Amino acid sequence: MDVTSLSTAAYIAASALFIRSLGGLSSPETAREGNTQGMVGMALAVGATALLLPQATLPILAVMIVIGLTIGAALAQRVAMTSMPQLVAILHSFVGLAAALVGYASQLGGEHPAGAEGVIHSLALYAGVFIGAVTFTGSVVAWGKLEGKIRSKPVVLPARHALNLVLVLAVVGMAIPYAMNPAAGLPLLLVMTVIGGFLGWHMVMAIGGADMPVVVSMLNSYSGWAAAADGFLLQNDLLIVTGALVGSSGAILSYIMCKAMARSFVSVILGGFGADEGAAPAPAGTGPVGEPIATDVETLVKELAAASSVIIVPGYGMAVAQAQHPVCALTKNLRARGIDVRFAIHPVAGRLPGHMNVLLAEANLPYDLVLEMDEINDDFPETDVVLVIGANDIVNPGAIDDPSSPIYGMPVLHAWEAARVVVFKRGKGAGYAGVENPLFLRDCTRMLYGDAKKSVDALLAGLST
Ligand code: TAP
Repeated sequence: MDVTSLSTAAYIAASALFIRSLGGLSSPETAREGNTQGMVGMALAVGATALLLPQATLPILAVMIVIGLTIGAALAQRVAMTSMPQLVAILHSFVGLAAALVGYASQLGGEHPAGAEGVIHSLALYAGVFIGAVTFTGSVVAWGKLEGKIRSKPVVLPARHALNLVLVLAVVGMAIPYAMNPAAGLPLLLVMTVIGGFLGWHMVMAIGGADMPVVVSMLNSYSGWAAAADGFLLQNDLLIVTGALVGSSGAILSYIMCKAMARSFVSVILGGFGADEGAAPAPAGTGPVGEPIATDVETLVKELAAASSVIIVPGYGMAVAQAQHPVCALTKNLRARGIDVRFAIHPVAGRLPGHMNVLLAEANLPYDLVLEMDEINDDFPETDVVLVIGANDIVNPGAIDDPSSPIYGMPVLHAWEAARVVVFKRGKGAGYAGVENPLFLRDCTRMLYGDAKKSVDALLAGLST
């Protein structure tokens, strides 16, 4: 078999592994396997590409791979789970930059085929550079906002939508003269890159820091399309397939996240809700009135000891407190007493898709105790105690019965239908959406104030005495 056929076979195998990997990542039980398949696919893809390169370039490739692997491994070891969105954002900026640079390399390399093939080549180059530039600056801003390096408050320029539209039209307009004479098109390409970079910056600067996870997922999609455009440019089928997989899975994920938050994708992209991250709850007088009733560990120990069914609702605060290990120890303790304990996972609990599943898997919680919202939402009325650990928006009844609530329409967990709800949180901090939560004032609800890890540790100690 010659080298070209060998690398084609490896490309097909790598494409199949990437598709299987995405399938595997859709469930916690198969996520590790999916990850491994993705890694094997990528190793195969890089190896097969190396086979096609001139021998003289291989040492340079080897050095670059070693540098990349070292930086990647060091970053992955160090990053905290709660900082994962910013890592993903900065990695997307690299994809965007790489896509734009590939376009420039091709432009400067001077290979511009003639005829229809030439037009496709030029348009792929133009699109790859444009999407790459948008992705690069947009991802850098998303990283800056998530990392707290850039103020998360939206920067809204006057007539921004009109400005964006004019710039997009200019980019589309310049594509025609560029495609007609790409050999002399470098100045047009440079102007378009500056516009693309500005658009990426402007679009993400106008979005509040709180909406960044959706934006990161959207930029993920863009980086895939930029890579796919480069695939056409380089006539590399694997890059087209991989780019399309990343592009479409990123778009689907953005859609799922928006749906689970009852937000329209367009309204997220245009900015608005979530603009003031960490804002205080809605002003007094606009929400429910009264004071939540506090409880203590001793009382909760008694309530749990008398319970026969318990549902745990983990949220962002569990991730902040890193309380997953004591929460799993608590689950073991209660189950050893014959109490039925299950977890209710909201699709957007935490700040990342699958955030809670990852934390609970890390603490070795059996998967069969972890149920999705739709699987468990009808079981709350038959539940004795619900432990809401650092969750807020995802158990807000206002999403169902208060049409004036900014999160009205968002599907939530019906925790308030249980006999007793105990909310673990530090104080009066609002959730991601910055709205009051009437659950805290319901008759069935008690508040266990304090850091979630410390409270669960104290609960465990109380149950052991
Ligand atoms: P949130 O509504 O953000 O509430 C988290 C609560 O945890 C806060 O009210 C906070 O109250 C408490 N908390 C923080 N640190 C704590 C600690 N150390 N110990 C105990 N409690 C602590 O979280 P959620 O219920 O998981 O909802 C997720 C929100 O994020 C949703 O609005 C969702 O739309 C949004 N979102 C999710 C995603 C994904 S993909 N998951 C992406 C974007 C946006 P105190 O400050 O009083 O402690």
